Amino acid sequence: MAQANALLEEDKAPFQRIAAPCPYVGTCGGCTLQDLSYDDQLALKRRRLARLFSQIGVSRPIHVHGLEPPWRYRNKAELSFGADQARLTLGFHAARSFWKVVDLDDCLLLPEPISRVLQDVRAALRATGLPPYFPRRHDGLFRFLLVRSSHADETIMLCLMTTPWDHAAVVALADQLMAKHPNLVSIYWGVTSRLADVSEPEELTLVRGRAYLEDRLGPFDLQLHPLTFLQPTPAQAQRLYARVAEWAAGAASGNAWDVYCGIGIVGFHLAGKYARVYGVDSEARNIELGRLNAERNGLRNVTFHQGRAEDVLADKRFWLLEAKPDLVVVDPPRTGLHPSVIATLLGARPKQIMYISCNAEAMVRDLRLLADGFPSYHLRQVEAFDLFPHTAHVEVLALLDRA
Ligand SMILES: C[S@@+](CC[C@H](N)C(=O)[O-])C[C@H]1O[C@@H](n2cnc3c(N)ncnc32)[C@H](O)[C@@H]1O
Repeated sequence: MAQANALLEEDKAPFQRIAAPCPYVGTCGGCTLQDLSYDDQLALKRRRLARLFSQIGVSRPIHVHGLEPPWRYRNKAELSFGADQARLTLGFHAARSFWKVVDLDDCLLLPEPISRVLQDVRAALRATGLPPYFPRRHDGLFRFLLVRSSHADETIMLCLMTTPWDHAAVVALADQLMAKHPNLVSIYWGVTSRLADVSEPEELTLVRGRAYLEDRLGPFDLQLHPLTFLQPTPAQAQRLYARVAEWAAGAASGNAWDVYCGIGIVGFHLAGKYARVYGVDSEARNIELGRLNAERNGLRNVTFHQGRAEDVLADKRFWLLEAKPDLVVVDPPRTGLHPSVIATLLGARPKQIMYISCNAEAMVRDLRLLADGFPSYHLRQVEAFDLFPHTAHVEVLALLDRA
């Protein structure tokens, strides 16, 4: 962490500093680039990518698609509860701290209606006089608040996570919030006693409103759940998926794999170009929503397989014969591809591989393995999409093909 911070400071050094618009910068761990103009942020990301990709022989500049305007773009957030003296706080973790929560009245990355709802959740929970959960002591009540908003119609879904609590109290809270915020259409309650500081509930209940948030991404209608994965920046994600569809060569009687598929949105963009699309994801909730959304959009040629990619793809008879791919798109978590997934890709010999990544270091490591493999895969295109303005993160899309 200290090393990453030092590297970031070094990368920021050539750029002129500006006054960060958000008053929480420096205390909140979120936005580490707000003291640069947005043009300079993009330049910094281009330089970082150029430095990394030069390690695998890429000398051409990598375009980073910027977002305009680069504010209030996130359609979801995960906030934590904490305490300042005896006062309940709600916000993001403080910079360099797993325990301290910065109490936020607003976040310039979140749509304003979300900030208004968050303020009222905090006020209502403060009024109970009950404590937050204290991760170091493993006691207390309020743990996390997940919030998700629809890009299509600005409706909002909340999920409050607590240790075991009183159902009637949660219902009363939900009624109070929904009476004040007509755009709040769905409230879930998650209960977790886990020691780990992760927002994964052991029990999840729909308290009030709709089971799903209705959204639209490009040509697809989507139903979303509080815990399903969806890229947080809809306008940019849409550009990224459109590029995937554009680069995909297509095969009217062929197959495409969408590995680490989430709810399958990459595969949906390929369904018109391939006879069959196979989505693979480890999370049962993602797969369930993938199936629901494929059906909703009339995509009968998209099927889903639940499990870890390294396990699911081990069934070589199915994946290398029956479902043998013309295109494989991978979009792994930050750790990158499991070595056995790389081995399966090389064994499957698709004409094209597309790699989507939020961690360019891991991506470059894996691209090198694909280039050194047999068959050898060559990098044909690479572009980046700024899904995370004001943070040091960037999403990269690479297209490879085999000799
Ligand atoms: C970066 S997200 C990509 C989601 C999707 N492609 C999209 O654009 O919405 C990574 C996904 O990988 C899934 N995942 C994490 N580890 C996995 C594994 N070992 N095998 C399969 N899926 C995994 C997560 O559930 C998550 O949905």
